[in-house]
Formats: sequence, structure tokens, C-alpha cells
Amino acid sequence: MADESARRRLVGADAEGDDTASMVALRPQTLAEYDVGQRRLIDGLRVSITAARQRGDVLDHVLLDGPPGLGKTTLAHIIANEMGGEFQMHSGPALERASDLVGILTNLDRGDIMFIDEIHRLPRVVEEYLYSAMEDFRIDFVVDSGPYAKTIPLELAPFTLVGATTRAGLLTPPLRNRFGIFHHLDFYTPEQLEKIVQRSALILGVELQPEGARQIACRSRGTARVVNRLLRRVRDYAQIMGDGRITGEMACEALEALGVDEQGLDDLDRKYLRALIDYYGGGPAGANALAATLNEETDTLEDVVEPYLLKIGFVIRTPRGRMATVRSYEHLGIAGKPPEPQGPQANLPLQ
Ligand SMILES: Nc1ncnc2c1ncn2[C@@H]1O[C@H](COP(=O)(O)OP(=O)(O)OP(=O)(O)O)[C@@H](O)[C@H]1O
Ligand SMILES: [Mg+2]
Repeated sequence: MADESARRRLVGADAEGDDTASMVALRPQTLAEYDVGQRRLIDGLRVSITAARQRGDVLDHVLLDGPPGLGKTTLAHIIANEMGGEFQMHSGPALERASDLVGILTNLDRGDIMFIDEIHRLPRVVEEYLYSAMEDFRIDFVVDSGPYAKTIPLELAPFTLVGATTRAGLLTPPLRNRFGIFHHLDFYTPEQLEKIVQRSALILGVELQPEGARQIACRSRGTARVVNRLLRRVRDYAQIMGDGRITGEMACEALEALGVDEQGLDDLDRKYLRALIDYYGGGPAGANALAATLNEETDTLEDVVEPYLLKIGFVIRTPRGRMATVRSYEHLGIAGKPPEPQGPQANLPLQ
């Protein structure tokens, strides 16, 4: 239940309910089209792709890591487009049996791009087959067990594995080490999101004025998926309540009606901050305690609520738990001051 409430969030970065034709149409197809932010990643990938193409080689395996909704899946498609390979999409937890993986691998052609989303959730037995597949393009498939066990060596066509993960820290070292190319995606700045939303408005045929773009961008939590989703909701609002044009004023009005405040926080974020401040005096409070207070899953808080609050400095993590900062107090209009964080390791990074 808690999970569902997280999924329904308008400002949630996860993809639930977003796979509509119009969202797919907004996906950049080439590196040139994608070229907003993620500078190091784009430059690095461009070099790797161009060099591999010049040599007529297959691209090294690529690992993309970063919070949801920043463009990992989009980039995997782009890599396939740029390399001219067939794109195959799979999800870590769905590859339950080693035979599933073996079936997929043996059907790959040279230069194909095999994309595994949520690769940190690949079952261990399946993962172990990937090691030799990635390294030597071969697998020793074991059929049956005990005295009847037989090993069938299978040669594979050289392919590129593109793995995406929101939790690179959970990847086992043997798997992580087999990726030749590793990139981390960063949150977008409001200016970069403005560019993304302008481009999306053009594709959707919406009249979006610069101030409207600015308002939507600065409430989109640094996330491309959120900026596109808010654009579509604001477009609906402007169509019904106005003449369809998204002015700055119209955007503010629509976003307020949608419960998204100037920092891009929604009810769940505000509830989280209120719990931390009202129940725990600003902290420190453990994730489990907060989750119980809010009747949410700890994972939901850690995956979908905290990353953004940490990023904008509304919350810090200390060895003793989460603490609200003065910015949270100010944003919620709460008088008083947060307690001082204690200990040399205050403000631990996420993960
Ligand atoms: N650089 C960009 N320019 C324009 N649009 C972008 C860019 N990056 C991402 N997007 C848009 O953001 C949306 C989300 O991207 P994508 O699905 O690739 O995210 P993701 O990182 O795979 O998320 P998840 O972790 O949830 O799978 C897509 O609709 C895509 O069009
Ligand atoms: Mg994705």
C-alpha cells in the first residue's frame, strides 16, 4: 500500500503510468538530441562509441548508474541507435532462471545491445552466467545436477551489455568489474530542465512561454521524467482553465492546484519533513522509525523521498539518523531551529 502511494506521486521519478505514446515520443534518439547536461557522460560515451565504430569493434559493456528518471533507459536506446545494433530490453528481477538468460544470450547477433534494467536485482545464479558471457563471450551451461550434470559449452556472438542501476553500491564486485565503461547520471539543473521542457513542448505542440518553462523546471526535482510529466499536467490545466498557453502565471496556478510547491515538494515530502520535525524534534531519527511514523516502507523513504531532500539540503544523514536542516524549517514556516548534528561523520553521503 505504501508502495502504491509512492507510485502515484506526480513528482515521483519512477516510470509507473508513464509509458504512454506521448512520453515515448519525448525520448531523444541520438546523443546530439540528448545533449542537455550530463556533460562528462555524453563526452565520454561519444568518444567510446566513435572509437569502437572506427575500429569496427563491438562497444565495451556499459554500466549506467543514477537515480530514477534521469535517462538511463533512454541512453541505452541511444547507444543501440548510435552503434547500429539490435536493442533488447530485459529487467534484472524478471530474469529468474539461468536458462532464461542462456536463451537470450545465444540468440544475440554480433553488436547487439542487451539492456538489463535494475541489474542489481539480478538473481545470483543468473548473474554468475553473465561473468563468462561478458568476458569471453562464452558460457558453460550446466544441465541437470548431481551425477547427471552435463556442461554444454556455448559460443556467443560479441555483444554489448548495457546495465542500468539506481544502486551501483549493491552490485557485486565481479559483475561491476566486467563493465569497461561506467557512467553516473546526475540530477539536472533547473536551466537544463528548462531546455528539456522546451524541447518536449515543441514535440507536443504546446505553447510554452519562457516563464512557464522556468516555473515547471524549477519544481521538477532535477529529474527529466518529472519535468515531462508536469508539462503534460500543466498543459491539461491550461487547456481547461485558460486558452491552452502556458504562461508563468498559468504554470504556477496549475502546479499549486496539483500540490507541487516551489521547491517541487509534494504532500509526501512535506509529511516526511513534518514527522521529522514534529515527532523527532528535527532528528536524529532512524529510517525505520520515520517509516513507521509515516506508515510507509523504509525502502520507499530511502529510494523515493530522501534522495531529493538530501540533495537540496533539507535533510542530512548522520551516523545517528536523519536530521532536518534550517532550510526545512524555513520552507515549512516552522519557528525554531534544528538541533546541531554531532560527531565527526555528520552528513554522510547517500549509500
Ligand atoms: N537529456 C534528456 N533530454 C530530454 N529528455 C530526457 C533526457 N534524459 C531523459 N529524458 C526524458 O526523461 C524520461 C525518463 O528517462 P528514462 O526512462 O531514460 O529514465 P531512467 O533513468 O531509465 O529511469 P528509471 O531508473 O526509472 O528506469 C524520458 O521520457 C526521456 O524522454
Ligand atoms: Mg529506465
